[in-house]
Amino acid sequence: MGRVISIVNQKGGVGKTTTAVNMAACLAVYGKSVLLVDVDPQANAVSGIGINKESIAVSIYDVLIKHEAVENVIMKTGIKNLDLLPSHADLSGAQVELVGVMAREMQLKNILEPLKEDYDYIIIDSPPSLGLLTINALVASQGLIIPIQCEYYALEGVAQLVHTFNLIKKNLNPQLYIQGILLTMFDKRINLAQQVVDDIRAYFKEKVYNTVIPRNVKLSEAPSFGLPIIFYDIKSAGATSYMQFVEEVLHHEKESVR
Ligand SMILES: Nc1ncnc2c1ncn2[C@@H]1O[C@H](COP(=O)(O)OP(=O)(O)OP(=O)(O)O)[C@@H](O)[C@H]1O
Ligand SMILES: [Mg+2]
Repeated sequence: MGRVISIVNQKGGVGKTTTAVNMAACLAVYGKSVLLVDVDPQANAVSGIGINKESIAVSIYDVLIKHEAVENVIMKTGIKNLDLLPSHADLSGAQVELVGVMAREMQLKNILEPLKEDYDYIIIDSPPSLGLLTINALVASQGLIIPIQCEYYALEGVAQLVHTFNLIKKNLNPQLYIQGILLTMFDKRINLAQQVVDDIRAYFKEKVYNTVIPRNVKLSEAPSFGLPIIFYDIKSAGATSYMQFVEEVLHHEKESVR
């Protein structure tokens, strides 16, 4: 049975999509079968994986709201072992449309549940809010990975995210756990960056991955080519660090089944 992992931080621009796309691609390269699920109306994971947003005729919006069969919406990507359940700008309306739906927090879980037989990993990229779409992502997941940008206000909002996590774990999804904290966009030239890393490690302890993702220009260029970093520039520091991060994720999982 596949594992569902959502990448969540309600703060914008902290590296959620970069992490979701590159984690999905690295897992696929390791031979895992992966479904990347985009529940952000910005649909940045769609373009990041090399699919033209304009070409999306049916999206997860249609599955959530119009009862379209999910099989009709899942797409192949150009990458072996990696499929995509795309988002669309329409999804911004779904937050409102879902409000009147019964068990509105469970909709994504119900959609993904049968797909766990087909994939080793289902990776969910979420929008920068703690709204209903993100709640659906958390209810559908076993693991939560929180990317945190190494900057001065990094921990701002994280307490609220942890509070939301606790509420969902208590009331809607007891199996949810914080799988890990990923430090992103580390820039050693910035004073305080190391201090921020130390503070986050002191706060989250062993939950923080050893791998720190550096600020790397190749990582910011790759999405405009529609390529995960390992296909854009395998030799870049960005590629090395995301591969190392995924190795850590796989290693932790091995440890936890022992
Ligand atoms: N390690 C990095 N080095 C350099 N640029 C990065 C890095 N990680 C992400 N970026 C760039 O920073 C911007 C924000 O990253 P990303 O889109 O992954 O964040 P996000 O949390 O998904 O944003 P949003 O909240 O809008 O969904 C993007 O332009 C991305 O290409
Ligand atoms: Mg994003």
